[in-house]
Amino acid sequence: MPAQFPQARLRRLRSSSALRDIVRETSLKAEHLVYPIFVEEDTDEFTPIEGMPGQSRIPESRLADEARRLSALGLRSIMPFGISHHKDETGSDALKEDGMVARMVRIIKEAAPELVVIPDICFCEYTSHGHCGILKGNTVDNDLTIKNLGIQAVQAAKAGADIIAPSSAQDGQVAAIREALDEAGFEDIPIMAYSTKLASALYGPFREAAGTELKGDRKTYQMDPMNRREALRESLADEAEGADFLMVKPALAYLDIMADIRRNSLLPLVAYQVSGEYAMIKFAAAQGVIDESAVVRETLGSMRRAGADLIMTYFAPQLLEEGL
Ligand code: PBG
Ligand code: ZN
Repeated sequence: MPAQFPQARLRRLRSSSALRDIVRETSLKAEHLVYPIFVEEDTDEFTPIEGMPGQSRIPESRLADEARRLSALGLRSIMPFGISHHKDETGSDALKEDGMVARMVRIIKEAAPELVVIPDICFCEYTSHGHCGILKGNTVDNDLTIKNLGIQAVQAAKAGADIIAPSSAQDGQVAAIREALDEAGFEDIPIMAYSTKLASALYGPFREAAGTELKGDRKTYQMDPMNRREALRESLADEAEGADFLMVKPALAYLDIMADIRRNSLLPLVAYQVSGEYAMIKFAAAQGVIDESAVVRETLGSMRRAGADLIMTYFAPQLLEEGL
């Protein structure tokens, strides 16, 4: 039997900050953070994103400077999203050797080779209808789309991507990308699977930021937020297909699922604190009702505690500036 009060007093280990430091179970460090950025082509202006105070669309023409600035801040990993002005039915820009995905990777790798570049691999930023792949009727054609995801992944790898992160939420996408990468000689490039991706209402500000044209929803390919068993099944399926990292997205409302995956897989696990989560903290703090920095640390800490190794967060530069 463990000692009980009055022999045991849990307060004994809390009496000073030095003592609290040495018994703290969870840490948050620069290497745990991945910063998602929005890069816009055909403009020289930074455009502030209304729904995400503090975030802007970065013009492609100034991406090199921005990458150097972020790296100097201590950022380790970056995930570029493209804002395309060349959208079409199939998202063909993303398949091109000189399309936005490849260009963003090349620019960042050239400007700041030490940054781990993890391009998002999907089609919603490049399709005129805003869906994450080729349409058949009013849903995405799974099998055609995963072939194209393989092509896009190879273009990103050729451009110098360190990790490939497919977010399209199609069945078999990890296996299709693994096969395409291996065939092209990129067997050493890891895949960070958006393995458990929910059809969440928390992506609103992102869709504004990325300028996606989506009408309707993604409920035929993204998962129902109400399903805990299926959430684990999704991640284990990606592991079986050869994923090198698993991910839960969004993060804060899905800590149970993160903990389930942590117990059922040995792979590194990523939490994506999405745009709506960022906005909730930013707007509440702007109203003066919460302490922003403390809430950011508490919520990111909860993701680490639930089992996440890495956290994708729009707060990354702010945390590095404040100091971790
Ligand atoms: C889609 C994609 C989404 C996000 C990143 N890539 C969600 C969606 O539009 O369904 C959301 C990220 C965020 O909200 O921060 N491939
Ligand atoms: Zn998408």
